[in-house]
Amino acid sequence: MMHPYTWYRILRLIHIYSAIVLVGAIIFNTVVLMPALRRIPPAHSAVVSQKIGGGLMTLGGWAIVLLGVTGFSRLWVLGQLRHVFSWEVIRLPHLRWDLLMMVSWFGLLVTGALSAIWYKTILTRKLPYSAGLRDLEERRAAQQKVAAWQDRLAYFNLSLALLAALGGILASF
Ligand code: HEM
Repeated sequence: MMHPYTWYRILRLIHIYSAIVLVGAIIFNTVVLMPALRRIPPAHSAVVSQKIGGGLMTLGGWAIVLLGVTGFSRLWVLGQLRHVFSWEVIRLPHLRWDLLMMVSWFGLLVTGALSAIWYKTILTRKLPYSAGLRDLEERRAAQQKVAAWQDRLAYFNLSLALLAALGGILASF
């Protein structure tokens, strides 16, 4: 039988690596990729953002899942899982930072799921061969609208990711 502390350290290792990957991917997206895409002509930037966006989404998706699994498991190993779902979470100063991490993580989970759905249903939608000019125009308009929303979401996600990291760092101070 493994000592609980060994489990805790393994979970911590995965938690920290996932945090690095998630926060890194989100910073890369908003600070490097998005400004670069704005400087590329629209037809090209649509293709580039679809290809790179897919990769970032897979990477970020896995990081969010791993952060959730390892984060909640750690609280369970520490015997604090039930406290974070009670008023103790606000009363105990140390748990408040865990709450910040949890809430930001939940926000990222929701916006991430939303982006993935948009990506699959609108951004990368293929039209049948029989599609006419009108269908093409409608898809382009929908893609433009979603792309504008993705941009807004990206800055919101950046704030959430930085807040989650801050919560994690202050919780372990
Ligand atoms: C975007 C999501 C998240 C990020 C970026 C993040 C980041 C971090 C970081 C940087 C640490 C400090 C390193 C350490 O001591 O391990 C940490 C610790 C921790 N995280 Fe997270 N985390 C996230 C989500 C979560 C979630 C959803 C939970 C579950 C409630 C969680 C629970 C914990 C716990 C219990 C600690 C240890 C705090 C302590 O030492 O007392 N994290 N996190």
